[in-house]
Order: sequence, then C-alpha cells, then structure tokens
Amino acid sequence: MSLKGKRILLGVTGSIAAYKSAFLVRLLVKAGAEVQVVMTASAFDFITPLTLATLSKHPVLSQFQKDETGQWNNHVELGLWADLMVIAPASANTISKIAHGLCDNLLSAVYLSARCAVMIAPAMDLDMYRHPSVLESMGKLRSYGNLILEAESGELASGLSGQGRMMEPERMVEAIHAFFSKAKDFQGKKVLITLGPTQEAIDPVRFISNHSSGKMGKAIAEAFAARGAEVFVVAGPTSQHFSEKIRVTHVRSAADMYEACQKIHSGMDLCIFAAAVADYAPANPAKQKIKKSSAELTITLAKNIDIADALGKAKSPNQIHVGFALETENEIAHASEKLSKKNFDLIVLNSLQDRGAGFQGDTNKVTLIHASGQRKTSELLPKSQIAELILDEIKNVPVWV
Ligand code: PMT
Repeated sequence: MSLKGKRILLGVTGSIAAYKSAFLVRLLVKAGAEVQVVMTASAFDFITPLTLATLSKHPVLSQFQKDETGQWNNHVELGLWADLMVIAPASANTISKIAHGLCDNLLSAVYLSARCAVMIAPAMDLDMYRHPSVLESMGKLRSYGNLILEAESGELASGLSGQGRMMEPERMVEAIHAFFSKAKDFQGKKVLITLGPTQEAIDPVRFISNHSSGKMGKAIAEAFAARGAEVFVVAGPTSQHFSEKIRVTHVRSAADMYEACQKIHSGMDLCIFAAAVADYAPANPAKQKIKKSSAELTITLAKNIDIADALGKAKSPNQIHVGFALETENEIAHASEKLSKKNFDLIVLNSLQDRGAGFQGDTNKVTLIHASGQRKTSELLPKSQIAELILDEIKNVPVWV
C-alpha cells in the first residue's frame, strides 16, 4: 500500500534515537507521504534540522515565531493539516508534558491542536521507561486515544539493556500503513477477552500466581478496538493500561474471573481466552497470616473452575471461542486436545521452547490451529502484530464465514 496523499506531521524530541527519525522521514517520503517535521529545541542537540528538511523536502519548524517580523507558525493550522501525527522519538519530558496539557513549545501546542490520530514512539533509558510517572503519563495518552508504539528491548545508549529503544523505523512505517489501511471489519461485534494471570490466596499476604503480564491479551484488545469491535476485558492483576474505549473489569482469582465472564458471556459474539488462569488454588486460604512455626508447610490445592471449558459448554452456535495454549513439550498434540475438549473454534499455541515467545516479552511466535486441524505458524513478531494475525485468522473460522 502506498501512503500517497497522506499528510504526516512528525514530531522529533530530544533523544539519541532522533537519528532514526531521518530514516523514518526517508521511508515515509518514499512511500508517497507528505511529511512536515516539527522539532523541540533539545532535538537540535541530536540531529540537525538541515537533515530532516532535506529528506522531508519541507523546512523544519520549531519556533512559534518565524522571524522578527512577527510572522508565526500557526500550530492550529498544522494540527488540522495532518492526517496523522507521529511523535518519534518521544522523550520522557515530552510524554509527560503532553499528557498533562503543557504547551511551552511548538510541538506540544501542535499536539494539543491536532484533530487527527496521534502515534507516540517513546525512547528513553529502561528505568525512566518503567518509572511510575512515565507509565502514568503513557496511560493517560492511551486513554486520550493516542497509540503508543511500545519501545523495544535491547541495548540502550546508557550501556544498560532493557525496554526503552525506540521502535525501528521500518516497523513504525508498518504500523502507519496498518493505521491507514485498517478496515473496521469487527464493527458491531462484541468481544470478551480474558488476560493476565490470576492470583490465588494462600493467606491475606501471599498468593500463587504465574508470569503472565497481560501484554498478549492487551494487544488483542487494542487490535479489536481499532478494528471497530466493542471490547470487554476481564483482566487478572496486570500493569497494562488500556484505551478509554475498552471496558475493563479487574479481577484477582480464577473464581472472580469466571464470575465476571459468566455475567456477560451470552451477549458476546467472540470470546478470546488469553489469560493464564491458575488451575489450582489453596483449598482453605488462611484467614490470618501464616506464621513460620514449623520446618515444612503443606498447602492443599483444589482444582479451580476451567473458565473456557465451562463457557464452552454454554457456547451458542453463533459464538466464536478462541483459546490459548502455553506448552513446553508435545505442543501441537496438547493444544489440539485443549481445542476439542474446551470447544474452541481456534487455538493459539505459544511454546516456551521458542525464544522470545510466551510470557512477559513484547514478542511472540504462535501456531494457529483451527477445529478442522488446519494450522499456520507465525514468525517471531511483536505481540501487536501477532494480535493482528489472530484477528485475521478469526475471519477464516466457519462460523464467521
Ligand atoms: O500475558 P503475557 O505475558 O503476554 O503472556 C501471554 C500468555 C503466554 C499468558 C498467553 O499467550 C497464553 O498462552 N495464555 C494461556 C496460557 C494458559 O494458561 O494456557 P493453558 O494451556 O493452561 O489453558 C488453555 C486455555 O484454557 C487458555 O485459553 C486459558 O485461558 C483457558 N483456561 C485455563 C485454565 C482455567 N482454569 N481456565 C481457563 O479459562
């Protein structure tokens, strides 16, 4: 797909990743987009406006005032001109400012004036990236409907390693293509998504849980919302933030998750079971904190309700159920068994044998198995792209077709 005729406003802020903005401009222009760059003053420390002006074929803007004659760069006009605003790299400083409505430079004023969609590609060191104030600001921006292009994990300019690297320009261009080509193909559909881990109380201060972060389920929820569906999330304990349009019910245990799902299940067109639900829970959680009096402690576990299985039994012929299977061995056989036992139409298998797949990370590699036995395996991709593949595959389920 070409970006011919698309007007993209690129905001560049002060981060070492600003050098990648040059590649981004080049790729966008090559794809046919018209690109106008706005820089903050600190971005000048990392890349020259001459580079970006040459590549974008437009003078770079950074000041409210053009020159001493009193002519000014109209932030309202710029905000209205664009079909899409992309802030890449977005520093912690700019993220925090725009999340709180500050506008002491042209870029933040344009952001506040923009009526178009906004994509934000954060870039910063790992501890900054996970600081509660930055996470809160990103959560706010998401709740305003802005799309956060999650930073990638890897080596950082500080020499530390972790999440904070700006998304690569090639992947950003893919996200921009997807934004412009996205059909609202799930418009009118109601979707329930379970995600995250569950926590099963041992006593008032301890619990049994697992490593699920909720990232995979969140990516699916955002993909459905972007493609027009009405999305209902039932989330186990997770630090993920969701767009405002997604309705989220927070739960703790498997029993709570079942209760929340069961209430709305009959009204759903699609149910995606991405949660890592604890199969067992302490049979008799202690009312008070257990004291370390004896050398050993035995906790009796009782089987939890299987949410997907129970709702699978209540599934109507028009509903589509998609399950997940996280396996460590005999993956296809185990996943296929769950597919038929739990009455799934499609199961998404991820294996801990595949590096970069499964829990916690930003990537996954999956095999999508239909009830017919037909299957497809993906490459290792960002969870946002895996989510799109799952949505595309749902459209091949016989009930949908
Ligand atoms: O959250 P992330 O860190 O991004 O990681 C994503 C993930 C690895 C958790 C996700 O991709 C995944 O695989 N989720 C399901 C993991 C799992 O518990 O699989 P399972 O094989 O135990 O369960 C099979 C299916 O039954 C799943 O759809 C599960 O949600 C569902 N189930 C299981 C047990 C139970 N008591 N109730 C259920 O609904």
